[in-house]
Amino acid sequence: MEIILADVRGFCGGVKRAVKMAFDNAAKGVYSYGDLVHNEFVVKELEEKGVLTIDDTNIENSKVIIRSHGVHKKILDKLEEKNNEIINCVCPKVEKVYNIVDNFYKKGYNIVIIGNNKHPEVIGINSRCNDSATIISNLEDIKIPKGKTLIVSQTTNNVDFFEKAINIIKDISKDEVLVYNTICNATFKRQESIRNLSKKVDAVIVIGGKKSSNTKKLAEIAKLNCKNVFLIQSINDIDLNIFKKFNKIGITAGASTPESVIKEAVCRMENFDKGEMMEAIDNSFKRI
Ligand code: F3S
Repeated sequence: MEIILADVRGFCGGVKRAVKMAFDNAAKGVYSYGDLVHNEFVVKELEEKGVLTIDDTNIENSKVIIRSHGVHKKILDKLEEKNNEIINCVCPKVEKVYNIVDNFYKKGYNIVIIGNNKHPEVIGINSRCNDSATIISNLEDIKIPKGKTLIVSQTTNNVDFFEKAINIIKDISKDEVLVYNTICNATFKRQESIRNLSKKVDAVIVIGGKKSSNTKKLAEIAKLNCKNVFLIQSINDIDLNIFKKFNKIGITAGASTPESVIKEAVCRMENFDKGEMMEAIDNSFKRI
């Protein structure tokens, strides 16, 4: 069995920064508004250091960590009104999208966001234009507002999906349309890497949180080239016997998956493979 790791995988710069800031500030009495990143191992480790995850704005006079993919502006305002110290772990690339949207909304542009309308990042971006954005989550039935329009993307969007949506919009629009491709470079590189790797292997393991949007996109891309794709949170989630029939296995991980979880997966796979070989040798001796 040959295990090939995607050359670009795991923690992106924004998540690394957020995790470092959160751990630097971690203590009892510190809160995180929502999961810091979409990875339960990171969230659990923070909890062990005393950081409690909250989903309401009732906290007062405390330190509150704001997660890497941001929150609705009203939540931030309420937490500040209650005299909380905000530890802003929002990725600078997400903040950049906020600024673009805020700027063009004030200039009278309609805002269109291509992304998942339920994802906290998209909800946060939409709040920078008073929740007025048209959100495009699927390619069927795309409608855009009349008048000059600015389009941005969720930073973790699938590049192909974004481009298809833009082409449809350009075909149907009669007014000025400005497009900012705000898919972040880290997302783009991870998607390119798995696109290439999935063409060369018999199976792909994608490691990442259940709620992680960028992890799901990596699995979707891998499926285009390889029919055996397994999306897991950790290697302990899967029966390794499944992999006996494959020769080459590719491994990648979403932007919020720690390197330790990837290493554990590689190590378990290698040990499993060695065990398989030993068993085969033992059996051949028995036959002799
Ligand atoms: Fe930031 Fe891109 Fe990561 S937006 S959080 S660097 S996936």
